[in-house]
Amino acid sequence: MALQQKGMHGTWGSRWTFIMAATGSAVGLGNMWKFPYIAGSNGGGAFVLVYLGCILLVGIPVMMAEVILGRHGRKSPINSMRDIVVESAAHRHWAHVGWLGVLAGVLILSFYTVIAGWALSYIFEVGSGELRGVSGDSAGAVFARLLDDPSRLIFWQTVFLALCVGVVMGGVKKGLGVAVEVLMPLLFVMLLLLLGFSYFKGNFDAAVSFLFRFNLDQLTWRGVLEAMGHAFFTLSIGMGAIMAYGAYMPQRANMGKTILMVAFLDTAVAIVSGLIIFSIVFATEGLEPSAGPGLMFISLPVAFGNMPGGLLIGAIFFVLVSIAAWSSAISLLEPCVAWFVETKNMGRFRANLVLAGFVWLLGLGTVFSFNIWADYKLFGFTFFDGLDFLTANIMLPISGLLIALFVGFVMNKKAVDSEMLGANPSLETLWRFTVRYVAPVAIGAVFIMGVYDKFFS
Ligand code: PHE
Repeated sequence: MALQQKGMHGTWGSRWTFIMAATGSAVGLGNMWKFPYIAGSNGGGAFVLVYLGCILLVGIPVMMAEVILGRHGRKSPINSMRDIVVESAAHRHWAHVGWLGVLAGVLILSFYTVIAGWALSYIFEVGSGELRGVSGDSAGAVFARLLDDPSRLIFWQTVFLALCVGVVMGGVKKGLGVAVEVLMPLLFVMLLLLLGFSYFKGNFDAAVSFLFRFNLDQLTWRGVLEAMGHAFFTLSIGMGAIMAYGAYMPQRANMGKTILMVAFLDTAVAIVSGLIIFSIVFATEGLEPSAGPGLMFISLPVAFGNMPGGLLIGAIFFVLVSIAAWSSAISLLEPCVAWFVETKNMGRFRANLVLAGFVWLLGLGTVFSFNIWADYKLFGFTFFDGLDFLTANIMLPISGLLIALFVGFVMNKKAVDSEMLGANPSLETLWRFTVRYVAPVAIGAVFIMGVYDKFFS
């Protein structure tokens, strides 16, 4: 059975729009908030090296596999997987891969909207000028006050979710497509502006040596698992987002080049964000790179507040982070919305409202884990820590592993070839080998060692 060439949701206007959409999905809080702080807490250089290895050996091949599935299925990840499983005469349980991804996506969205809400609120916190000359302690107190106040957290979470729903309701061409075409160029301009600022006003050399000095002794298996989980998270793979976007890709676009471009842009933004953040942090006496999740919200405001012109730049920085989060979050909503539209006979409007309502409710768990539920822990995890660990370090690697095995061994070979058309033959062979052997072995080994390290040692 040949699957249809066109889906019911439409396609991107061009290959360029797909690149912007996929890059918009990939570049987000993961690059600007999470990457710098997990690199910081894992000692810098060695972690960065492992992370780059994971992007190259695991991330890119799996991303390609996921886009192949999406473009071949032309539907929401759940239905695409189901159709392709039938077409390939594979065991029906393979279809669960689609479900696993979409479930991970919805769980991630629930905490993503809360953290993105922090960034939104910091545009005003920093922009109001009140943090001028702020000390580390008072910046910590400002952040603690935000986290302690569920109603403020819920307010910003709601504003952010509404922004996302507004875009996704518009559909593929007029909503998502238009949004990414405006937001992404804006994002790159702002990023370059900030890079210039941190180069001239920050301690750029210290940032470079922190990110690229390979001190292996600080690296643990847990850190390696974190690097791999993060490679999935940052490329938006393993959760249906890239599969859904692939479903709207024009048939003729060259797959390999396109994906390499997206992965390159994503990695570049992570490194540049790390350089910006650490050169600003190192320029200020007494700030630690290993500050954890508060790095962006405590250390950076202190640095901004004590630099000439820093507060304006600081406000721009948080606008940038919010835009990056926005263009990512819409890609987490889309797969499930598409599924509702296909399967539940709902319009986009209703599908968005239903899903956003559910995500909002689930997000309250993350909101409360910073205040009234802060003491409820399971295996040492709060609700938020648990969701973060479960999705990034467990669900995404498993889903990635299954996607690699499915496309590598199970999916109808002719179908895979038809999607790879136009690819350079030796690159294609290299990809096939990586997706069949290298990626699954790497994911399996890192996963087992990392989970063992976390729970049993
Ligand atoms: N890749 C995004 C980031 O780095 C997060 C994300 C994950 C977005 C999954 C969409 C899907 O922030």
